Amino acid sequence: MPGLGRVPLRRQTPRYFSTYSFLVLSVPATTITFQFSDGQPAQTHVAASGESVLDVALNNGIQLQHNCGGVCGCSTCHIYVNAGGDDLPEISDKEEDFIDRAENPRINSRLACQCVVERDMQLVVTIPPQHFLGH
Ligand code: FES
Repeated sequence: MPGLGRVPLRRQTPRYFSTYSFLVLSVPATTITFQFSDGQPAQTHVAASGESVLDVALNNGIQLQHNCGGVCGCSTCHIYVNAGGDDLPEISDKEEDFIDRAENPRINSRLACQCVVERDMQLVVTIPPQHFLGH
């Protein structure tokens, strides 16, 4: 093919990589930073739209109890939302009832299975100690 032989491959590769990097960085991403009450180092993970905080935790090997399987039927996936909570779906009466049964509920308490993320959100959450079994 005429013209392809004019530029060595090693000159073409950085140009392609540079364009590709720009496209990847310009897509809005949701991230969730998990902090831990037990002193583990914080972890930040990317979340897809429609995933819950519980999904992202479990997909990344973070221990978070979920006795009802994520259907707002217990309080074991209780977390604290430290930042980004205003972008989450509004808390339901049912979720509020279960949070009242959690250990040490606070004003920023949520159930991780009910915190479904959308695009371009930055959440910071704290995972309470996982040594107890909740309701
Ligand atoms: S896993 Fe039971 S309420 Fe979230």
